[in-house]
Amino acid sequence: MTQYQEKASITRVERLSTQTLRLTMRSPLIAGAARPGQFIMIRPSERHDPLLGRPFSIHQATGSGTLQIYFNVVGRGTAILASARVDDELDLLGPLGRGYQLVKDAPACLIGGGLGIAPLLFLAKERSRGGHHAADDRIILGGRSRADVEPLVEDYAQFGLSLHCITEDGTFGEKGLATDLLITHPLSTDTVIYGCGPQPMLAALHGICVKSGNPCQVSVESVMACGMGACLGCTVMGHDDNYVHVCVDGPVFDARDLQWQL
Ligand SMILES: Cc1cc2nc3c(=O)[nH]c(=O)nc-3n(C[C@H](O)[C@H](O)[C@H](O)COP(=O)(O)OP(=O)(O)OC[C@H]3O[C@@H](n4cnc5c(N)ncnc54)[C@H](O)[C@@H]3O)c2cc1C
Ligand code: FES
Repeated sequence: MTQYQEKASITRVERLSTQTLRLTMRSPLIAGAARPGQFIMIRPSERHDPLLGRPFSIHQATGSGTLQIYFNVVGRGTAILASARVDDELDLLGPLGRGYQLVKDAPACLIGGGLGIAPLLFLAKERSRGGHHAADDRIILGGRSRADVEPLVEDYAQFGLSLHCITEDGTFGEKGLATDLLITHPLSTDTVIYGCGPQPMLAALHGICVKSGNPCQVSVESVMACGMGACLGCTVMGHDDNYVHVCVDGPVFDARDLQWQL
C-alpha cells in the first residue's frame, strides 16, 4: 500500500457544533489513494510542540484530491487544528492502516457511535455507488445527545440509504444506544456490519454479532505515536493472545480477531 507525505492546503473550515469541526483540505496524493476506514497522521504544528502527529480517520476523500477530517477538540493538538484557517498548510502522512473490506454482494449495516460516525460517511458513499443491495442497506448513527449526531445527518441522507438516528438522552431520533436498534430491528443474517465507535459500543456490537452470526468489521482506536508500526504504542490484544498493531493491522479488524472486555 502506497503512503505519501504531503503538504495539504486547507480549503474550508466548518464548525459543526461547539466541540466538533470539519477541515477540508487539498491533498491529491493521499485523497486519490484513500480507502474507507483508513486514517492519516497530521502534524498540528510546525514547531516542536506538539512534536508527534495525531491520527484522524478519513471522513471523506475524492478522486479529485479533496480530503476531509471531522474531529473533536480534546487537547493541545486538536485545539491547534481548530484554529487553522483557509490556505494554512498541514503536514499529512497517509493513507495509513487497513480500512473496511467492502463485501459488495451482501447487504450492509453501518453503525457509528459518537465520533465513530465520522469515517462511515466515506464508506456510505462507496456503498451507495455499488448498487446491488443499496435498498437493504441500513445506517445507524448514535450519540449521547443531539450535537453528536445532527451535524452529519444531511451528509448521510444524500446517499438515499435507510437512515436511523438514536441518542442516549432522546434529544435526536430514538432514545437509547445505537446497538439497541439491532435488537429491536434485527438484520438478515447475511448482512455485514461495519462499526465504529467507543470500545464499550464495539464490544456490545461484537456480542450481538456472535449471537446472530452476522459478520462484523470494527474500527478501533488506540493511542498512536508513529502510525506506521514502529513504536508499539498502539497495540491491543488479539483473540489468540498475541498483540496486534492498530496502526498497521487495523484500525479495521474482523471483530472476532480481537479480545473484548464485555
Ligand atoms: C485510527 C484513529 C482514528 C481517529 N480518528 C479520529 C477522528 O476522526 N476524529 C477525532 O476527533 N478523533 C479521532 N481520533 C482520536 C484523535 O487522534 C485524538 O483525539 C487526538 O490525537 C487528540 O490529540 P490532542 O493533542 O488534541 O489531545 P492530547 O492532548 O494528546 O490528549 C487529550 C486527551 O485525549 C485522549 N486521547 C488522545 N488520543 C486518544 C486516542 N487515540 N483515543 C482515545 N483517547 C485519546 C488523551 O488520553 C487525553 O485524555 C482517532 C484516533 C485513532 C487512533
Ligand atoms: S502507532 Fe507506532 S506502532 Fe502503531
